[in-house]
Order: sequence, then C-alpha cells, then structure tokens
Amino acid sequence: MRIILLTILLTMTVALPSLVSASEEGEHTALDTSMDKMNDAYRDLRRSIRDATEEQKPGYLALMEIMIKEAKAGKDMVPEKVAELPEAKQADMITAYKKEMDGLITELEEIFTLIEQNQFDEASTALRGLRTIKSEGHDRFRKED
Ligand code: HEM
Repeated sequence: MRIILLTILLTMTVALPSLVSASEEGEHTALDTSMDKMNDAYRDLRRSIRDATEEQKPGYLALMEIMIKEAKAGKDMVPEKVAELPEAKQADMITAYKKEMDGLITELEEIFTLIEQNQFDEASTALRGLRTIKSEGHDRFRKED
C-alpha cells in the first residue's frame, strides 16, 4: 500500500509541473517574449545600478538598449486582449496601446541619456518609477488569465 501511495505521489510531483508549464507555453505570445526580455534586462539593471560605477556604464547602456529594442518591437504587436473586444472597439484599443508604449519608449530613452551623463542615482530613481507605467499598462492592456 505504501509503495502504491509513494508511486502516486512521485508521479504527481513529476507529471504535474510539466503539465502546467505545457499549458502556459501554449499561451505564450510574441509580445510575452518581448516583455520577458525587457523584464530580465530591467531586473538586472535595477540591481546593478544601485552601487553604480563608471566602469560598468557600457553594461548599463547595453541593458537599456535591450529594453528600448524590445519596447519598440512590442509597440508593433497587438495585445491578446484586443481580440476579446467587439471589432468596432479594437482599433481604439490598439491606438491607446501604441500611445502608452510610446510613453514607455520616451521614458526609457530619457533614462538612457541620464546614464550616458553619469547621473546614476537619477537613473535608478527613474527606473523604479517605471513600475507605475508597467502596472498601468498591464491593468489596461493585458488579458486576464
Ligand atoms: C518596464 C516596463 C514593462 C515590463 C518590464 C513588462 C513586463 C511584462 C512581463 C514580464 C509580461 C509577461 C510575459 C509572460 O507572461 O511571459 C508582460 C506582458 C504584457 N505586457 Fe508588459 N511590461 C512592461 C510594460 C508594459 C506596458 C507599458 C504595456 C502596455 C502599454 C504592457 C503590456 C503588456 C501586455 C499586453 C502583455 C501581455 C502580452 C499579450 O497580450 O500578448 N507592458 N509584460
């Protein structure tokens, strides 16, 4: 009996996570992929710029370049949520989405300039401020699971 129970438990631990990730993978959009790349660069930069040094500046700028590139690519994609709307409302949502992404791109370019000018503390504060743009963007344009 114990062995049967153990076998069932083992099967669940091994099989369940792979089932979950398979279903998540199925829903992964190209925009998700771009956002993920932006998120990784964002997280690395926030951490490394806390104790900033001028020698690391090329690394900070490279991470900013990834964010800008992915934000620009993401702007030309259409959020999944758009398809849930009636056709008559879809164009308006796409316009609003692009405008919000433009705001993000402008902010990212400003942070890039701050880093170029060695204003690391200001850049760090502005990077933290991106959280608001991120959560607003997600509230408005991200499909609920
Ligand atoms: C620093 C800024 C941002 C970061 C780091 C970020 C990060 C992310 C992450 C990690 C995901 C989930 C990816 C996944 O499930 O694998 C995501 C999804 C998404 N984000 Fe962002 N995001 C940012 C800003 C924005 C903004 C400003 C908007 C809207 C204007 C936006 C719209 C979306 C949408 C619509 C999705 C779902 C993808 C889809 O519908 O296909 N994000 N984002």
